[in-house]
Amino acid sequence: MAAGHKGKPRGGGPARGRGALRPGGGPGPARLCGGADRLIDDLVSDARSWIGQLVILGAGFDSRAYRLPGLEPVTVFEVDHPATQQAKREVLGRVLAGMVAGDPLAWHVRFVPVDFERDDLGRALRGAGYRDSAPSLFVWEGVTNYLTSAAVDQTLGAVRGLAATGSLLVFTYVDRAVLAGDDSRFPGDAPLDRRRPAQG
Ligand SMILES: C[S@@+](CC[C@H](N)C(=O)[O-])C[C@H]1O[C@@H](n2cnc3c(N)ncnc32)[C@H](O)[C@@H]1O
Repeated sequence: MAAGHKGKPRGGGPARGRGALRPGGGPGPARLCGGADRLIDDLVSDARSWIGQLVILGAGFDSRAYRLPGLEPVTVFEVDHPATQQAKREVLGRVLAGMVAGDPLAWHVRFVPVDFERDDLGRALRGAGYRDSAPSLFVWEGVTNYLTSAAVDQTLGAVRGLAATGSLLVFTYVDRAVLAGDDSRFPGDAPLDRRRPAQG
């Protein structure tokens, strides 16, 4: 997992005290998968006081907007591939009905369908009401390994153009060598299937 700030973080901002977020400073991939969710939850919770917007890139079935307390005043943009987003909206409509006053899909979350391989992220977000002037937290979890290098570069470039001073991007990635089957750089993290106890 990695995190990067644009400009100077605001007082009390999330860059403090999260040693595991330092690039290259955390554990290998297997333990990170288990811990990243919790670290990002904490990061989002800590950021509530200074962000105007939370942008969840490749949101999938991320439920932070609905389960983390105190996020209601923050506009959350859930960006995802149109097909995944349509499936989520159908489930959310059912799950949130009766729990949220009014239309559950018109709460503080805005749904932004984007294919990172083809679409203009900046245009899509601005079209959905994203404000360039507001410090924002961008979360990009569990997505980069599904994309081409060009789409990763393009998305990072778009985030750079969107992020006001003080904004933060946190993302997870899988080392290219691991994707190619070489986990020798992470000797403490044997693949999970090798850890399974023998069936007796
Ligand atoms: C493993 S899920 C991660 C979901 C969520 N971020 C999480 O951590 O639970 C991968 C996500 O990447 C999205 N994704 C994959 N390729 C994409 C693309 N080309 N454009 C937009 N989203 C994409 C999928 O729709 C899916 O929501």
